[in-house]
Amino acid sequence: MHKIALNSESDWSGWRQAARQLALAGIEPAEVRWTVGGKGDALPDASGGFHLSRSLVELMAVAFQVRQPDRFGLLYSLVWRVQAGETPPPDDPDLALARRWALSVRADAHRMRTNTRFLRIQEAAGACRYLGWFAPRHFVLPANAQLVARRFPDLTWSIITPDGSAHWDRASLRFGAGLRHTADDETLLAWWEAHQAAILDDATEGTSIPAAEAVDESPRPPDLAPVGPVVVPSELDPSLAQPARDIWACRRCHLYEPATQPVFGEGPDGAAVMFVGEQPGDQEDVIGRPFVGPAGQLMDRAMEEAGIDRRLVYITNAVKHFKFTRRGKRRIHQTPETPEIKACSFWLDIERAQVRPRLLVAMGGSAARAVLGRPVSITRERGRALTLEDGQAVFVTVHPSYLLRIPDAAGKAAAYREFVTDLIAIRAMMSAG
Ligand code: URA
Repeated sequence: MHKIALNSESDWSGWRQAARQLALAGIEPAEVRWTVGGKGDALPDASGGFHLSRSLVELMAVAFQVRQPDRFGLLYSLVWRVQAGETPPPDDPDLALARRWALSVRADAHRMRTNTRFLRIQEAAGACRYLGWFAPRHFVLPANAQLVARRFPDLTWSIITPDGSAHWDRASLRFGAGLRHTADDETLLAWWEAHQAAILDDATEGTSIPAAEAVDESPRPPDLAPVGPVVVPSELDPSLAQPARDIWACRRCHLYEPATQPVFGEGPDGAAVMFVGEQPGDQEDVIGRPFVGPAGQLMDRAMEEAGIDRRLVYITNAVKHFKFTRRGKRRIHQTPETPEIKACSFWLDIERAQVRPRLLVAMGGSAARAVLGRPVSITRERGRALTLEDGQAVFVTVHPSYLLRIPDAAGKAAAYREFVTDLIAIRAMMSAG
């Protein structure tokens, strides 16, 4: 067994060099153990012809940033097979998975460049720094910080994430410690004040980053408006980390095929309430998180009004892949069928068993069908306290996208108020239990 220790989760050049030497030495993927940090074995001393297509290297450089611990091995097995003379067909499962990873990484990189908002702070001698905070789903900071630096060479900025931070001083890019949670400007500022000296003195300059090949879109200018409330994604319950990885290989129904990626639920350990929607929408499918598109934004607003902190509840869907039909360039949502809901109940059951919420909230018909195991009339059963056979309390309400579809403004406003009223009842049940 060859133990290969990479310097960091983003050590693309270390991985690339190791993969080359291992493949040249004919070492099979099963004989390699990849780790991050620690001491590894010396690389085999092998030489010879090594040919990978540029497109494969580009794909791997992006897929490498996915937050999946098995990525090092899967990408190496692609390298090894190509070096052994194989040409993986376009529908090769490993290649298909690498492509899905790359799509998810690109979406996350895009999100980082468009969603990071910056707080302008005054530094010595009248200079200012733009301080941004962002929680990426994948390890996208190093590659994308280079793009931001190229795009804004004359500004001084820092992007801080839970995994680490990037700092541009108009001459060099440095990487330093991360900030696990932030909720507002004050936390960000306090962290910066406590860490800036260490970061600016000691941070290592990033050198091992895939640059041009990593992301192919040009970055948008940072939003230089003062930062508003920062939306912090909930922490995933750690006991669900494994199923959240396993679901990438789910073939329980055909919906995985056209979808970009599965969208697993998210929320903290011991959440008192689990909100269940129908399925990820177009944006959720690309970003990889539940309820981040228009319906999610409406739900966020209603939760805020009802006094529910999104970060404290678990949010998921009855079906974990986006079901759609194509109309030109658009992807049009399709309601999942009962067999798809049933197939996906495997994952919902795992989430329920792990989170063990006091209350399950089913939003809309598909979620109610999944939770109650029968067709449900939302109008009839909405707002009533229901109990499953296993004693689980259930609350049925409308799906937020139903509100978005109401054409007249007055009707929409009234339906929104009713939804907030339901959420207030849910909050009361959360705190009563
Ligand atoms: N609609 C849902 O049901 N779930 C999402 O995650 C987004 C939109």
